Amino acid sequence: MTEQTEQILSEAREQLAGAETPEEVEALRVRYLGRKGLLTDLFGAIPQLPADQRPAAGRAANELKGALEALLEEARRRVECGEAEAAPSFDPTLPGLRPPMGHIHPVSSTLEEMLDIFRTLGFEAVRGPEVETDWYNFEALNIPADHPARDDWDTFYLTDELLLRPHTSPAQIRVMESCQPPLRIVVPGRCFRRDTEDARHFSMFHQLEGLMVGEDVSFGDLKAVLHIFLRRFLRADVDVRFEPDFFPFTEPSAQVHCTCANCGGDGCRTCSYSGWLELLGCGMVDPNVFEAVGYDTERYTGFAFGMGIDRLAMLKHDIPDGRLFFQNDLRFLRQF
Ligand code: PHE
Repeated sequence: MTEQTEQILSEAREQLAGAETPEEVEALRVRYLGRKGLLTDLFGAIPQLPADQRPAAGRAANELKGALEALLEEARRRVECGEAEAAPSFDPTLPGLRPPMGHIHPVSSTLEEMLDIFRTLGFEAVRGPEVETDWYNFEALNIPADHPARDDWDTFYLTDELLLRPHTSPAQIRVMESCQPPLRIVVPGRCFRRDTEDARHFSMFHQLEGLMVGEDVSFGDLKAVLHIFLRRFLRADVDVRFEPDFFPFTEPSAQVHCTCANCGGDGCRTCSYSGWLELLGCGMVDPNVFEAVGYDTERYTGFAFGMGIDRLAMLKHDIPDGRLFFQNDLRFLRQF
């Protein structure tokens, strides 16, 4: 700024500080920034200056204009709004708004409870990848490329070789490849299937795989582990029923049912009035699977099982439609 513009600015500042009504502020605006105001004179005088002084004078005049506009705006606000504006417009002594706290999702808390029970039975929890290869998901599990059993797993393929796992069983192979028996593991995780969605089928769901391998592991051990698990999980003295079934990677294989914890076996909506609930698939590990991972089939035996975590969560909380878990409606989720 030049000496001249500095002087105009300090004069304006003083006058505006003394202004008490909007009219007074307006009068000062006209005096400085009006069409016939001081600034107009200042800009008008620039062309008369020697050429080498014009740029500096132009810059100073522009700076002055900006500063005056800011001062006028401030003064205008002060006189129009009075003191109220200067004080905060809220009461700072009021308690603040609490940010909403989330909590564990019902499927996650169900899983935690399941893992806790299996931990007490000596099963360690491990994870496997959700994108699997054809080898781990099918081939090593005794399901060759041309085998019709592949149709039981409505698989999403990413490439000819890669797929989204439709069950957690491929994790069995990964664990057995890297560990020697004895072993006891559970593998929770997300699975994906080309299922048409309804109250009990989802394209994304959760499974818990179990595997125990050692010398002399028997079907009796499998029954005991599942029976203990189900009684503890359902907090009821349920009966367990094994029905023959088929899985390529277990032999013999079974489908496990338990008496409906809801009605005690009398029949109700939860068990479709059969008195029994279909809960999981299981069986003794097929020797072909042991061969695929290089285990001695003469020495070792084992059992495996796989159960739907979402289904068990539905059962536990008496939820009629599993799609509710993944729709993220807080009215539903807040109930758990
Ligand atoms: N993987 C099977 C399924 O998805 C379940 C299963 C696991 C059966 C382990 C037997 C042994 O249906």
